[in-house]
Amino acid sequence: MSTVKEKILVLDFGGQYNQLIARRVRDHNVYAEIKPYTASLDEIKAENYKGIIFTGGPNSVYDMESPHYDKAILELGIPVLGICYGSQLITWMRDGKVETAEKPEYGKIEMTVDKKNSVLFKDVPDSVVWMSHTDYISVTPNGFEITAHSDNCPCAAMENADEKIYAVQFHPEVTHTEYGKQILKNFIFDVCGCKGDWKMESFIETTTKALREKIGDKKVVLGLSGGVDSSVAAALLSKAVGNQLTCVFVDQGLMRKDEGDFVEKTFTSLFDMKFVRVNCGEEFVSKLKGVTDPEEKRKIIGTEFYNVFWNKIREEAEGGFFAQGTIYPDCIESGKGDADKIKTHHNKVKMPDDIKFDDVVEPLCDLFKDEVRKVGELLGIPKELVWRQPFPGPGLGVRIIGEITMDKIKVLQEADAVFRDEIAKSGIEHELSQFFAVLPDVKTVGVMGDHRTYDHLIAIRAVTTDDFMTADFARIPYDVLSRVASRIINECPNVNRVVYDITSKPPGTIEWE
Ligand code: XMP
Repeated sequence: MSTVKEKILVLDFGGQYNQLIARRVRDHNVYAEIKPYTASLDEIKAENYKGIIFTGGPNSVYDMESPHYDKAILELGIPVLGICYGSQLITWMRDGKVETAEKPEYGKIEMTVDKKNSVLFKDVPDSVVWMSHTDYISVTPNGFEITAHSDNCPCAAMENADEKIYAVQFHPEVTHTEYGKQILKNFIFDVCGCKGDWKMESFIETTTKALREKIGDKKVVLGLSGGVDSSVAAALLSKAVGNQLTCVFVDQGLMRKDEGDFVEKTFTSLFDMKFVRVNCGEEFVSKLKGVTDPEEKRKIIGTEFYNVFWNKIREEAEGGFFAQGTIYPDCIESGKGDADKIKTHHNKVKMPDDIKFDDVVEPLCDLFKDEVRKVGELLGIPKELVWRQPFPGPGLGVRIIGEITMDKIKVLQEADAVFRDEIAKSGIEHELSQFFAVLPDVKTVGVMGDHRTYDHLIAIRAVTTDDFMTADFARIPYDVLSRVASRIINECPNVNRVVYDITSKPPGTIEWE
């Protein structure tokens, strides 16, 4: 349901920075979308793109197994910028010559601009660029001139200004390229003639208008988890169609302290909608009775969640629309690997066949995560929800080791709340990517007053990470750790010891189960 008019296409040949290219274009308030190199020429023609960027890729253009594209794409009259492999592909398409260098050129390289009045290099002096290539353009195609070089790369950039075809061997999208932002800006505005009017405020306006047109006077049902994406989708749909929206919120009793109430209060007091909360903590705990195996626990929680969720949705479904908080990275097809292996990656949920809606709406399907957060802030969603740290689907279920009981959930919720409170007060919250308490299935001996105790152990975990694939344990100051430990022991019943998890990932995972 894209409502965007001015668009740049990022044609993906399997390079690692493709999402970054799209983000960088969007930083200039121009919408960019990624399509795999398997997208057809007709599909591309139909979209009226203002410009096309060919991405990098891991391959050599002379290897016919590597991704290529119909040469006619260069004849559409749409400006093209080729990056790295994309620049070599343009060379190949126009019968220039690409060769393999003896040594790869990798890292920060000094580039000399040869054509000072190139539109692409407006306000760009000789400067450092990021290179990562073994093949290089040894002979430029007819009609192209070299516009920049480096010591080891005779053609760091080339252009055919008449046809508006530009190529750079380096990566303007990475921050190591000093003037990368300016180079992309020059391409987007001075070559492609974009206006740059894609802003989150206008996104909200056009999307709510389109949602209103699509939904008409029908109902729309959304599964709300309290996570960032579904919360922002709920707020946007509420702005568009008010109480035609029903949000179904399943509280399986494994959320953090007071979190279910907070989600309910936020959406019932700030937004117009019908809010349906299903409390099923007791049922979940009874299903989990006696189960200690982590995988089995996860499976039971997942299965039970979707049973409850779909049953409620079934009650609410009377035709109309089903909404999902799917965001852009969930939907992009990647140009990596073999064409026949390309799949759509997404976390859309498969709906049981007997539930019938007219159609699905995904109002955030054009946005990256940070853009979703911006929209959430503009729509007035509280910061706690918009900047919420990741929280696993099975909730505290993966943080209570061994059997899950109501008592244990209560102990963990209290300890976790203390930890979060102390981190917020210490002012280091923004330095941490994720932090939480864990209740291992361990009791230890302690002494309180004159009494021997034999009580729960609480572990606290805090990590820093960029991508959650690898993570380091956070260096929380000792005095903060000390306050956390003393408060947990004083305020949480039946806890007599606190430990701090100093394991990085790998070898540990962030969650304990
Ligand atoms: P691990 O523990 O694998 O976690 O290092 C990496 C990130 O993923 C989150 N996580 C989950 N998120 N459903 C989710 O939506 C899950 O089942 C799940 N398990 C782990 C975890 O909190 C961390 O941010």
